[in-house]
Amino acid sequence: MNKKNSDILHPRFSQEEILKKVDSLASEIAKDYKKLNPVFICVLKGGVYFFSDLTRAIPFSVEIDFVQARSYSGTVSTGKIDLLKDINTDLSDRHIILVEDILDTGFTLQYLVRHIFTRNPASLEIVTLLLKERKNILEFPVKYVGWRIPDEFVVGYGLDFDGKYRNLPDIHVLEPGDFSV
Ligand code: IMP
Ligand code: MG
Repeated sequence: MNKKNSDILHPRFSQEEILKKVDSLASEIAKDYKKLNPVFICVLKGGVYFFSDLTRAIPFSVEIDFVQARSYSGTVSTGKIDLLKDINTDLSDRHIILVEDILDTGFTLQYLVRHIFTRNPASLEIVTLLLKERKNILEFPVKYVGWRIPDEFVVGYGLDFDGKYRNLPDIHVLEPGDFSV
């Protein structure tokens, strides 16, 4: 008979720690963008909670938009990415801040960076709450980083495992359940 043990979640960053980190990132960004009328772009779906806390911590009016990409990690093409939802705002001569939950290989973000550059923005910077140190292969520098973490799988605060755990308020390290016989 098949036995499936439940996933185990190990606490990593509490809601309180996250909100403190988000506030400090927002202050840094606010200082740099005070007079630039920036557009914040949320990378769906994972960035949604970080994006909503971050933009609300900016003490002046900003514009927001959303983008969604899907990356394939199939056997053949590792870097192949599909755009599921494009950005509606006219980005030409605007200062763009792209908001991500986590950077792993960097393929998704690299695709989005190239995509945004075709729309002639005045500038583009990335903010990510988490950066996996070992695997990151992005050529484009990431200006604002919340935490650098080792190569572990994390869930919560927007981050999912197979669609689950996104709405947890804290971030946890996932130890997947045992699917063996
Ligand atoms: P990348 O293209 O390899 O940088 O991966 C980007 C996407 O993979 C992220 O935006 C997440 O959606 C997902 N991802 C990577 N690492 C994790 C993780 O540890 N937990 C949950 N999602 C992750
Ligand atoms: Mg994501």
